[in-house]
Amino acid sequence: MTRFAPRVFSGVQPTGNLHLGNYLGAIVRFVEMQETHDCIYCVVDMHAITVWQDPAELTRATREVTAAFLAAGIDPVAHIVFNQSQVHVHAELAWVFNCVARMGWLNRMTQFKEKAGKDRENASVGLFAYPNLMAADILAYLATHVPVGEDQKQHLELARDIAAKFNHDFAESIAANGYGEEFFPITEPLITGPATRVMSLRDGTRKMSKSDPSDYSRINLTDDAEAIALKLRKAKTDPEPLPSETDGLKGRAEAENLVGIYAALAGETKEAVLRDYGGAQFSNFKPALADLAVAKLAPIAGEMRRLLADPGHIDAVLVDGADRASEIAMKTMDGVKDVIGFIRKK
Ligand code: AMP
Ligand code: TRP
Repeated sequence: MTRFAPRVFSGVQPTGNLHLGNYLGAIVRFVEMQETHDCIYCVVDMHAITVWQDPAELTRATREVTAAFLAAGIDPVAHIVFNQSQVHVHAELAWVFNCVARMGWLNRMTQFKEKAGKDRENASVGLFAYPNLMAADILAYLATHVPVGEDQKQHLELARDIAAKFNHDFAESIAANGYGEEFFPITEPLITGPATRVMSLRDGTRKMSKSDPSDYSRINLTDDAEAIALKLRKAKTDPEPLPSETDGLKGRAEAENLVGIYAALAGETKEAVLRDYGGAQFSNFKPALADLAVAKLAPIAGEMRRLLADPGHIDAVLVDGADRASEIAMKTMDGVKDVIGFIRKK
């Protein structure tokens, strides 16, 4: 018998504009998970400051991600929505994990290497230690399932390694404190569906990203119908018609990406999309994709605008979520302190 009830946790950084990759790779699946699980969704502002953020922009982006969660259909009453910095356990537990994780583990993180680039000496210590904070986010709630896009796979493996090492290093104390064999669960990553890695519209070998300098590379959640249609019309493709089977997408990164986007937006598989569009030219497929994208995204953009007109309401949602998240996280942290041997008020 495990003492871990199923619980979902995931986070999105309030940096730059939310795009179709965030929506299809993460937010759509956050919405689905609500049907079957208790869910906690976090706007990870403490992760954002691992690289410098303009303060006013950070506040704006935190509200924007929250608005996107709500507009997409996340229920902040039945579940929990909050911003990370309001729950102090994230920082507290991350410190403990800084002392559990090994330098060698973090040195292997490919996202740090990408983000730090050539000038590693000048990267913040926070950017290096970021996966430990991410493990703390998840494990503060003893979360068992974490829906994310493909790019977070390595970080989730690290969270599992941290949980396993903590369970191992403190095994005797964990048992003595009445927690049985495992204090932390070994979290399952949920990386599923046709859009776990949405690629740039300009280059099918690079992922769609908030930091790409070309706005034509991505569809922002707040783009209007015209911008969406224009970006898809200009999207890079090859001259061949679409194949009728998914095998025919091999070696055609741009075609595969657009078919994956269509499938995810329509809630279908790529196979089903190719049954309908096999043999079609991009000149026919792209307008159909644009219509579908506008139909799905325009109502969300509209609802986001409505919500963002009342920042007081958004902030109140975050405060309420943080209060409820704190209660859970503080209980975990008390247990961690007992297991480690820290004296605390009881
Ligand atoms: P971030 O914006 O980096 O905080 O990412 C928030 C969530 O969106 C994470 O679960 C990412 O894995 C996911 N995500 C980001 N970019 C993409 C992409 N291009 N395709 C699919 N998922 C993505
Ligand atoms: N690191 C994730 C990203 O950049 C965001 C994140 C922070 C997260 N903490 C998390 C995702 C915990 C899942 C679980 O996309």
